[in-house]
Amino acid sequence: MGIKLTHSKISNTNISLSEIGLGTVKFGRNTDIKYPKPFDLPSDNDLIKILNTAAELGVNYLDTAVAYGVANQRLGKLLPKVNKKFKIVAKIGEHYSSQSGSVYNFTRSSLKGDFEKLLEELDLNFIECLLLHCNDNDCGDDIKDGLKFLKQLKQKGLIGAYGSSCKTKEGVMLALDSDSDVVMIEPNLFSETQKLFDDCSNPNVIIKKAFSSGNILLNQKVNPSEVLKNYLEEKSILSIVIGSINNSHLRQNIEPLQKK
Ligand SMILES: NC(=O)c1ccc[n+]([C@@H]2O[C@H](COP(=O)([O-])OP(=O)(O)OC[C@H]3O[C@@H](n4cnc5c(N)ncnc54)[C@H](OP(=O)(O)O)[C@@H]3O)[C@@H](O)[C@H]2O)c1
Repeated sequence: MGIKLTHSKISNTNISLSEIGLGTVKFGRNTDIKYPKPFDLPSDNDLIKILNTAAELGVNYLDTAVAYGVANQRLGKLLPKVNKKFKIVAKIGEHYSSQSGSVYNFTRSSLKGDFEKLLEELDLNFIECLLLHCNDNDCGDDIKDGLKFLKQLKQKGLIGAYGSSCKTKEGVMLALDSDSDVVMIEPNLFSETQKLFDDCSNPNVIIKKAFSSGNILLNQKVNPSEVLKNYLEEKSILSIVIGSINNSHLRQNIEPLQKK
């Protein structure tokens, strides 16, 4: 038997995610982001190696967004050359260009356009988990209606699960009230909202930025896999999406979590 990462089903769906997912911001965008050091986008060959390493380590999904520059175009081109079919967790509603920065639009027509672009770029006809890519205004009527739109996509069988990537406690509460399957949040917001999750079976939490975009690893006193293990002990945390374009970092982070 191979070495495995734990996989868990998103409640009320047939979608299983590995406890670690691979984030793809650094595959497609290197401007206006909060990493401690500048970096060049990886070459196609390097990206294929990173994706194969993640697959070998037991990662079963990639986290992406229409706001991640050319990440989806690159994934659409390169995933057929990788030894594994990854599931996709994708975010829509935020648009980014280096000229205009981030612009958010959660109207149905814009979300529909984002979803179609996502399917086209990734060359897929189904997305396992689709989230609204929210900014700080994550609990208004536009978000409420956006979640209804995602629910309809799920009912039509075009996506397997839906929810929000939230920034505020109010956004999390709206996601909980809207039948969402998943919320994606940073560790600080998880600490603030943990009690809200204690009594409900869904939504399941995906943690993003567990390493604070790499900042907490700079002094090398923090053990990255211990950080991940601590979060994964929490009942409501289904998975953690980590960003990396470095094969040895991926191994260092994930190998200690694997089970024989
Ligand atoms: N929903 C949202 O609004 C949202 C926002 C931000 C991010 N995300 C998602 O969450 C993912 C993770 O976020 P993130 O990339 O900002 O933060 P992160 O996972 O906290 O940190 C990633 C950074 O840590 C570095 N790193 C990883 N392992 C390391 C190790 N063992 N030693 C030293 N450095 C290490 C990586 O550099 P190397 O590349 O050199 O390994 C990378 O720069 C993103 O890729 C994206 O998919 C979602």
